[in-house]
Amino acid sequence: PSFILWGPPGVGKTTLAQAVKKELLNKNLKVEIIDGDEYRKVICRDLSFTKDDRIENIKRLGFVGNILARNGIIAILSAISPYEVARRELKDQYQNVYSVWLDCPIDELIRRDTKGLYHRALLPGNDPDKINNLTGINDTFEIPENPDLILNTNEDEIEDSKNKLLN
Ligand code: ADX
Repeated sequence: PSFILWGPPGVGKTTLAQAVKKELLNKNLKVEIIDGDEYRKVICRDLSFTKDDRIENIKRLGFVGNILARNGIIAILSAISPYEVARRELKDQYQNVYSVWLDCPIDELIRRDTKGLYHRALLPGNDPDKINNLTGINDTFEIPENPDLILNTNEDEIEDSKNKLLN
C-alpha cells in the first residue's frame, strides 16, 4: 500500500513517517519514505510552489510510490499536498492508497516554526526575506473531503499518532 501523509509545513509529517518506518522495519516489512523536501532536490527540482507545480509534484511522488507499492514495499509519501485534486487523483489512479491528514491549529504551527518559514511569511510586505506563498499563511490549503485518517498533532503525542497510523 501507499500512504500519503499531508498537511501544512511543520505539522510533523517527516517525524511521523520516520517513526512509522522504524516500527514497520521491526516487523520485517519493507518501507520507503518519499519526502517532498528530498524529492524537490532531485526529480522535482524543476518545480516551484505554484498550484500547477505543487500538483505536478504530488503526481511524481505518487508515481514513484506506486512502483514501490506494487513491488511489496510500503510507500509513505510525505508532502504538503495542499490541493484536493492531486490527492484524489492518486486514490483514483492507483490501488491501495490511503490518505492521512495531519492537522494542527495554525497558532501552534507558528509557535513551533521548525524551519523559520512562518516567521518569514509573516514579515512585512517590503521585507526582502518575506515568503509570499507559504501554505496556510498566504497560500491555499484545501481542507479534505474524506481522508482515510485524520491525526491531530497538537492533541496527540507522536506515539499516539504513530499507533493510530499503524492500526
Ligand atoms: S507541496 O506543496 O508540493 O506538496 P512539498 O511537501 O513538496 O510541497 O514541499 C514543502 C517543503 O518545501 C516545505 O517543507 C518547506 O521546507 C519548503 N518550502 C519552501 N517554500 C515553500 C512554500 N512557499 N510553501 C510551502 N513549502 C515551502
